[in-house]
Amino acid sequence: MSHNVSLRAADFLYKYLLKNNQKDQKIIKLMGINFAGELGLAAGFDKNGDYLNFSNNIGLGFIELGTVTPRAQYGNKKPRVYRLSNDMAIVNHLGFNNKGVLYLKNKLKSFERKIPIGVNVGKNSSTSLESAHEDYNYCIREIFDVCDYITLNISSPNTKDLRELHTKKYLNDFLYKVKRCCDELSKKNKKNIPILLKISPDHDEKKIEELCRIIDIHEIQGVILTNTSVDKSLLSTRKHDHTNGGVSGLPLLKKSTKMIEVCKKWLHTDTVIVGCGGIMSKSDADDKLRAGANLLQVYTGLVYKGLQLIKQINN
Ligand SMILES: Cc1cc2nc3c(=O)[nH]c(=O)nc-3n(C[C@H](O)[C@H](O)[C@H](O)COP(=O)(O)O)c2cc1C
Repeated sequence: MSHNVSLRAADFLYKYLLKNNQKDQKIIKLMGINFAGELGLAAGFDKNGDYLNFSNNIGLGFIELGTVTPRAQYGNKKPRVYRLSNDMAIVNHLGFNNKGVLYLKNKLKSFERKIPIGVNVGKNSSTSLESAHEDYNYCIREIFDVCDYITLNISSPNTKDLRELHTKKYLNDFLYKVKRCCDELSKKNKKNIPILLKISPDHDEKKIEELCRIIDIHEIQGVILTNTSVDKSLLSTRKHDHTNGGVSGLPLLKKSTKMIEVCKKWLHTDTVIVGCGGIMSKSDADDKLRAGANLLQVYTGLVYKGLQLIKQINN
């Protein structure tokens, strides 16, 4: 709630008063997109595109909106967000609370962007895993024309069984059906929109290898490494061992950076890697780039370090 109120105020300020200082940022061309710097905003911060004036003007290289689903939904019961300041972490169990893809589409239609905007899509909680592709494809059809890239979020721990989409049993068929839909849209609209897959950090190396092979077969252009972790032993306190939800922030840093190293070994060299998880300083960002990331995303770092963090990393 306080997140929404302060962001609404910030959005107003940035719309009318605080225009961006982004002139000297370097352009990074990847997947046919001109990113205005390596560092972007991770999904979940602005799920519905309500704070675009703010995120467009704070020195970021790109923004990822969402997760949105075909129909608006409330998400899980409250309390569902826990701030763990001692660990510089958040545990969230939101469950894709969002206003639906059409609301976001309308926001984007009328917004004049300065930096690339990706949209992160998911399924409604009532949709089965067997029909999951229908929800993703519905969202993709709606936003294909108003965004620069699309992320398939199969890694939220807060929608029951969603992470099953990482398994061979579901992933091959899922990616085949989603890619087929994208190919049809590309032909019809005469343009390509890159597809990225957002992955969970909670896998062993064998599983990651299997995952990367499937990603290669379907020629997915990029991966986001990673979403939050369900491993509460990352936290310094045992208080949240039985709290539902995923850990983000500093405790996730090493685990998500390790994922970059491992995936880099298995993925096709052209696959773009977006490093996300626990970035709290320039040195954390550099570690991810050294491990093989092409781009970066941040969420929890902004909550604890504020906008200074963006400036620090860009320098
Ligand atoms: C409150 C909260 C809500 C989030 N919502 C989403 C979401 O809707 N979709 C998504 O793909 N990731 C979501 N995430 C995960 C972030 O995008 C990111 O992957 C994760 O927090 C790790 O990055 P960080 O340590 O910089 O926060 C959310 C994270 C937080 C803390």
